This record gives sequence, structure tokens and C-alpha cells, in this order.
Amino acid sequence: MCGIVGYIGKRDTQTVLIEGLKKLEYRGYDSAGIAVFTPEGLQIAKSIGRLANLESKLENTPLVGSAGIGHTRWATHGKPSDVNSHPHTDHSQKFSVVHNGIVENYLELKEELIRQGYEFVSETDTEVISHLVAREYEGDIVKAVQKAISYMRGAFALGVLTEYEPNKLVAVRQASPLIIGLGEGENFIGSDIPAILNYTRNIYILNDGEMAVLTEDAVELMTIEGNFISREMISVDWDTVTAEKGGFDHFMLKEIHEQPKAYRDTMRGRISENGGKVVFPDLKLTEEKIRSLSSIHIVACGTAYNAGLVGGAAIEQLVRIPVMNDVASEYRYRSPLITPDTLVIVVSQSGETADTLAALREAHANGAHVLAITNVVGSSIARDADDVIATLAGPEIAVASTKAYTSQLIAFYLLGLYMAQVRGTQSEEEIAHVIAAMQSLPEQVESMLEKADAVKAYAEQIAGHEHLFFIGRGLDFSVVQEGSLKLKEISYIHSEAYAAGELKHGTLALIEEGIPVIALVTQDNVLEKTVSNIKEVKARGADVMAITHEEHVADLLKSVDQALSIPKTLPMLTPALSVVPLQLLAYYAALARGNDVDKPRNLAKSVTVE
Ligand code: G6P
Repeated sequence: MCGIVGYIGKRDTQTVLIEGLKKLEYRGYDSAGIAVFTPEGLQIAKSIGRLANLESKLENTPLVGSAGIGHTRWATHGKPSDVNSHPHTDHSQKFSVVHNGIVENYLELKEELIRQGYEFVSETDTEVISHLVAREYEGDIVKAVQKAISYMRGAFALGVLTEYEPNKLVAVRQASPLIIGLGEGENFIGSDIPAILNYTRNIYILNDGEMAVLTEDAVELMTIEGNFISREMISVDWDTVTAEKGGFDHFMLKEIHEQPKAYRDTMRGRISENGGKVVFPDLKLTEEKIRSLSSIHIVACGTAYNAGLVGGAAIEQLVRIPVMNDVASEYRYRSPLITPDTLVIVVSQSGETADTLAALREAHANGAHVLAITNVVGSSIARDADDVIATLAGPEIAVASTKAYTSQLIAFYLLGLYMAQVRGTQSEEEIAHVIAAMQSLPEQVESMLEKADAVKAYAEQIAGHEHLFFIGRGLDFSVVQEGSLKLKEISYIHSEAYAAGELKHGTLALIEEGIPVIALVTQDNVLEKTVSNIKEVKARGADVMAITHEEHVADLLKSVDQALSIPKTLPMLTPALSVVPLQLLAYYAALARGNDVDKPRNLAKSVTVE
């Protein structure tokens, strides 16, 4: 995710900004930039790549001044490049903006501004904000920002400066985090606590819909409508490492908790205002092409492959097109049957996985349209694909993927609904019904995270075992494959995920007294069948934990040893909920076994060799 830092005071502003940005490097970024008030006016320096590139640009021409804003960018709209990096400015170069988040209606606003004569130099949604602020400025930067944001929909944390009022730094928070750091004769803004921790531990946390006006000596807090508010100052006692993890013990746990936000961000701007339709303004896959598709191949590795299993099933159900899933390292060597009417979807968190990239090239060589679902907009896979649907999960640091997987599911659901709209395979009511259910998912995940202790207790029970089984049918089978992978990756417990009905065809021989079996039982159409399979393992002495909906707990407890409940959603969307306890299970089991959760042995976050 992008990072923001801002400063107003007597220190060397450039140093404060660069040091602040360095503290945000751990979050991942593809470019960086700063804007500083210098005696010559507002000056901006930015650069693609590492912060070191920006530093070397500044070596010969430092920006010396009394206030400034800085940004590390994680591309969402427009590829990583010098020109797309922040800060952005207007055509008069008198205003400068850094932004985290997404302006949902930026295309509309951009068209309007272009009609009014504003010229755009970047592909970003952020540039819209600098032009809007410039357009609305009538001698008061606070009012201009308020006016500008009244036209904007979406999520934004902003830092805004104008040369006309060099003694002010304006900050806004709307669904994207921002904090204010308080000093003596100086003040700060930051998207995260580590950005300012070197200088102050006293902070205000802005809430959504609030803004702050910073001068050297004061901070005024108000709502975005301009009503003044007061806030209690918080004193942070975190060390840098704890601050980077947002107060969580591990990045993995932080990322599991970031899932509600990742869901919201991945849906943002892709659902029509009335909630009735999915919109993909940037998709090159034409409606005509969608209508002509006869098959879809979904190709990926690891967790992304597992997301594709759920995604493929959702697309088949919604669009009634045959979908084939394949692991990338197999796909490329088996002469897949690709016709001009095949859509190949490659899925990759990093966008750099060598096998997935090679599969993409194989698909291209065979004339397929390739659509990438990826978390890194500037990655090799995003660059090579014909189309990109970005999962807006933000950088994932823990090797074990969690929020990337669930954001991939959201991207698949959206794509499936979009194709169903185009091909007319679902009614408008049905589509609106699924969208409404999707919009409830973030809150449902939040409610599950509040009950993590029950999963923790169970994880501690199984942590001493060396083998266990996951079983499920239909989408539950797809999800347990991810649950099993997660557990293996970080706890090193050997586990197998089995289609519940298949166990009796061989593997049942391995079920012995006391072996844990985790049964995912959420798909009503196969519920009774799964219960029969549970009885098969119970009869051989297995210790069964069922994960199911509240309404089935009492009944299932007649057949299983313990049960955990998850909230109810549509069967197709259930994987976006049911995977969460499995992620927590892996996390807490790894923790109980004393493993390095974020950096498991033998594994890498991004595998760029075949
Ligand atoms: C590695 C990671 C996995 C990941 C897989 C695919 O093996 O350890 O967590 O699922 O690569 O990565 P990608 O970046 O393509 O999603």
C-alpha cells in the first residue's frame, strides 16, 4: 500500500521526509517522491524504483525548505513510472498532493476537468485531486480541499500543500488511514506510525471524514464539512518493529486482519453506485469477446492456484462456460488446447512467479487473450498480460499468503458477475443479490476475527500432531486445499486435503485413533453427504472438528467432536469467509510450535525461478 509522510517545522524537511519514507519501505512500493517549499517555491522530486534512486536525484539538488510531503507509491491506477509517482501537482504547479487510496469516480472527474481545459500528465486517479483543489482555490486552501473532496467518491488519505499558503499542511482521512504527529514547533502527518516514530510519539488518529490543518505551532482538527473537533492525544510506546506490524505480533496476523479492508478496496469502484451491476471501466476484454468465449483456463501457482479453484467454480456457475484449472508449471508443458475463443486467466499475487509468467507467454503464443489477476500492477505479469484486474490488497509481506488469496476470490466473483451480465446468464436481480451479499463480507470477516480465540484453542490442541486431514465437498474441498497448504507452509504439520467422498477410495487406510480431521461443512447441497463421510472417519477413531454455519452446529455435534461456526452468506461466496478460520488455524498452530511464522523454512514469497 502507498505510504504518506508530511512535515512542517524547522528541521531539514527533505531529511524528515526521506527518513519517514524509509520507515515505510517494509510495506513495499514501486516509486517515491517528495514536494518541499523552497525559497523558489514548491519543488518536487520523484523517481521510479527504490528510495535510493530518489536520494541520488536529490544529492546534487537538495530541496531545502520548511514544509513538505512525501510518498511511496504502490501502483493501482497507471504503471509505476516517474510521472505516475506522487506528489502530483496542477498545471500551475502551485498545489501539491499525496494520496493513498482510490478515487472511484476519477474517470468522470477527469473527463470533466479535461473539458474545462485542465491538462493531465499522468495516468493516476490522484492527479484529478490536484486539479480539483486548484480549480476550487479562492484564497483558502482548507475550503478548496473541502470543496474538492465533496466531488470525490472512494477512499483517500491526503496530504496537500499550496505555495499560496506555505505555512499550512492540510491532511484528510476518508477510509484510508492517516495520523498526525505532534512536536514542539513542528508537526507531522503519516499513513503509518513508523513514518514519524523517530521524531515524536504523540499522535492524533484521524477518523474517517476528518481532516487536520497543521502549522508549525498548532494542529486544528475538523470534520470534512468544517466543524471543529477535539481529540485525545495518544502516546505510542511501540518500538519500530511492533509499529511496522501495526501492533500485531506477525505480519501474517496483521494481513489476516487487513482482509476486510482488502475486500472493500478490491470491490471499490467496480460496483455501480446503485449496487446493481459490476463495472470494469479499464477492461480491454470487449463484450463481443466475452460473448464469443467457449472456454476459460485459469493458471497459477500455490495459493493463487487455490484461489483459481474457487474462482473457476464461481465463473462456471455464473456464466456457464467450461473452466479448466491448471498449475502453471504443468500447463506450459502439456500443449494446452487453446483456441481463439479461450480466455486464459493467470493469477499471481507478486506478478513475478516464473512458472506463471511462462504459462502466460505460452498462452500468448497460442493466440489467447490473457487476463491477469495480480496484486502488483507494475509486475512482469501485469505488463505482459492483455488485461489486468488488480487485487487491491496492498503489499503482502508474510510468505504465507492470506489477504492476497481472499482478494483474488473477490476479483473472481466480480469478473464472473461481469461476464454473466454481458452474456445474460444471470438475471439483474440475481446479480444485485450476489453484489449485496458481497458487500456484507467485510463485516462478516470482522465478526469472525473477533472470535479468533476459539480457533487458537483448537490450534493448540492439534499442534502436537504430525499428520492430519482436511475434508470437504464442492467449494469446501477447494477451500480446504488452501487451508491444508497454509498449515503445511508454516506449521510443518503434514496435512492432506481430500474431497470428502474420495477418502474411502484409498486414503481412509491412514485414518487411525486420534488423528485430527477438519471437516468444512458449509455447502448445503452436499451437507448430508459430507456428514456420511465424517461418520466414516469417526468410525475409524478420528477426532473431528467441523467448521459450519451456526444453524448446523447442534446437529453436527451428534457426529463430530467439536464445531466452529462461521457467518452465513451465499454458498458461492462462502469461501471468502470459511478460509479465515483455516488461516488462523495455521497461524496459531505455527505459533504453538515455535516456528518463524512470517518466514517459514525453505519457502520464498516470490519464486522467480522455474
Ligand atoms: C510462492 C509463495 C506462495 C504463492 C506462490 C505463487 O510459492 O510462497 O505463497 O502462492 O509463490 O505466488 P504468486 O505471487 O504468483 O501468487
